[in-house]
Order: sequence, then C-alpha cells, then structure tokens
Amino acid sequence: MRDKNVLEAKGLNFSYPDGTQALIDINLSIPRGKKTAFLGPNGAGKTTLFLHFNGILKPERGKIYFAGQEVCYHHTALLELRKKVGIVFQEPDTQLFSASVRQEVSFGPLNLGLSREEAEERVNEAMEATDILDLRDRPTHFLSYGQKKRVAIADILAMQPQVLICDEPTAWLDTRHAARIMELFHKINRAGVTIIFSTHDVDLAYSWADYIFIMKDGMVIGEGAPERVFCDDRLLEEAELERPWLLDVYEELKRRGFVAANSPPRTREEFFLSLAGKESCSLAREERKGRSFKRECLQGFLGG
Ligand SMILES: Nc1ncnc2c1ncn2[C@@H]1O[C@H](COP(=O)(O)OP(=O)(O)O)[C@@H](O)[C@H]1O
Ligand SMILES: [Mg+2]
Repeated sequence: MRDKNVLEAKGLNFSYPDGTQALIDINLSIPRGKKTAFLGPNGAGKTTLFLHFNGILKPERGKIYFAGQEVCYHHTALLELRKKVGIVFQEPDTQLFSASVRQEVSFGPLNLGLSREEAEERVNEAMEATDILDLRDRPTHFLSYGQKKRVAIADILAMQPQVLICDEPTAWLDTRHAARIMELFHKINRAGVTIIFSTHDVDLAYSWADYIFIMKDGMVIGEGAPERVFCDDRLLEEAELERPWLLDVYEELKRRGFVAANSPPRTREEFFLSLAGKESCSLAREERKGRSFKRECLQGFLGG
C-alpha cells in the first residue's frame, strides 16, 4: 500500500548562513492526493520549508521523508526526488530562462532522457492543461505576469510530478487570474497530483485547501481541516489572521436564523446555494398559502 502521507518533516530546524533561524522544530505530514495550504505572514518560513521538500535546502537538524523514505542528499537521489516533487517559485522570472514558451516547457522532459515524441506529448499536455498552447511560440520575457505564472506551472507539470508545490501562486494576480490558477490546481489535483501551496490569503486557503497548516515565526502553530482551523478563534488571534469573510457572514446569518445550522459553505457558490435553499422554502410556503387562499375564496363564492 502506498504511504498515506506523501511528505513528512521530523524535528526540522534550519538557519540561514547569516544566523537567521527560519524553521524551528517542524513536525508535520502532508496527506497524499490532497490540496494542502500553508498559511502565514511574510517571514513565517513557508518558502524555506518548501525548499526542504525537494532537497534544495538541507535541514540543519531533523529529517524530511518522501513516501516514507528518508531524503538523501547525494546528487542522483536528489535528481530522482525532484522528478517527483516539483516547485513553482513565487517569482516566475527566477524559474523561466528559455527563449520561447515551447523551449521552456520542453527543457525538463528532454533532460529526462525521454524520446522526442514522448517529450513532445508531455509538453503539449502540460501546455494544454495550463491553457498556454496559443503562447507556445512567444518569447517568455514578453509575457504578462499571469501568463508567465502559467508557463512556470506548465514547466513543472511537464515533468509529471507526484507533488506540485506552488509558492504564493496568486501573489500579484488580479482576482480573475487568481481564480484561473486555483481552478487549474483543482484540475491537476483531480488527475491525482498532490498540491501544496502557500498563501497569506485566508479566503483563498479556506475555499481551496483540504488541509491547512498555519505558520508563524518559523513554527507550525496550528493545523487541520479548513472549517476547524478557521473556527479556532484563539489560533487565529495568535496567528494574527482574520476569519474568512464567507465564514463570518455565514455565522452571522445563522445566528439570525437565515440559514440552517448545517456545515458552513466553503465557496461563494455553496453559500448562495444554502441561501437559495432557504429562499425556495419560503417561496414554496407563500405559494401554498396563496393556493389555500384562492381555494377559500372560491369556496366562499360557491357558498361551499
Ligand atoms: N536567503 C536568506 N538569507 C537569510 N535569511 C533569509 C533568507 N531567506 C529567508 N530568510 C529569512 O528566513 C525567515 C523565513 O523566510 P521565508 O521562508 O522566506 O518566509 P515566508 O515564505 O513565509 O515569507 C525570514 O526571517 C526571512 O527573513
Ligand atoms: Mg515566501
């Protein structure tokens, strides 16, 4: 049976050469096949942790495990790990270096030693999934920020990783482009890829993650399913995080008796559905009242 957790950190500590202690005693397990979000303010240690997940950084103390196996830091083991765990960096310009989009996305697969046809097939699939086929002959450095972001994701997808890590996927994107990226993650995840992303956007984490870790000052200070993490007021206060607006509005409407007290909605659509249910109930009630009123009139008229 495959390991339930795809990545684990045990007793992980890390300091940068200038002495900044960026990670302090991190112990965590990332569930396989899910979308996991790391939430926390700037400087919390999210990027540093992600760089440990595919061996770009080596723990000062503690260990990282991939699929139950301790990560080794010799060259060939790291190459193998990086085929399985791909990172999309926050700044696409740090990642993209080829002249055209097609060259960029082809670079990884061609270096895996695949045949030209196999590599081409992967590249086309990755470009199709990220909706950049029409950009394939464009020079990467003239693309918009959102387009570059999608090319950077295609880059990693073309390697067909088991885990796709994305550092601040929606930073600097407008709402529409951010939603497109998150829809894309949803699609990639449904195809079986574990998704890990970082954000400081509570609404995004609440709507999109199956599981959440909250980080602060190099430590993990809370974890759990979104509806549990965001109902823990003490944790939110400690993490200096707001509650997602959807949860706030829902709680208030529930308090006033406008929505039924079942599980809180995770997305705007689910929220509207819970309201629509309520509305259609009262409409049905009005309609029933209307019908019996008509019947009473009719009976009165007929002298029944
Ligand atoms: N290259 C570096 N050299 C020294 N300190 C760094 C470096 N990168 C990050 N840090 C520090 O490590 C801590 C964690 O940073 P980071 O992992 O980037 O957090 P986050 O991604 O949550 O914003 C911060 O205090 C940051 O200033
Ligand atoms: Mg960061």
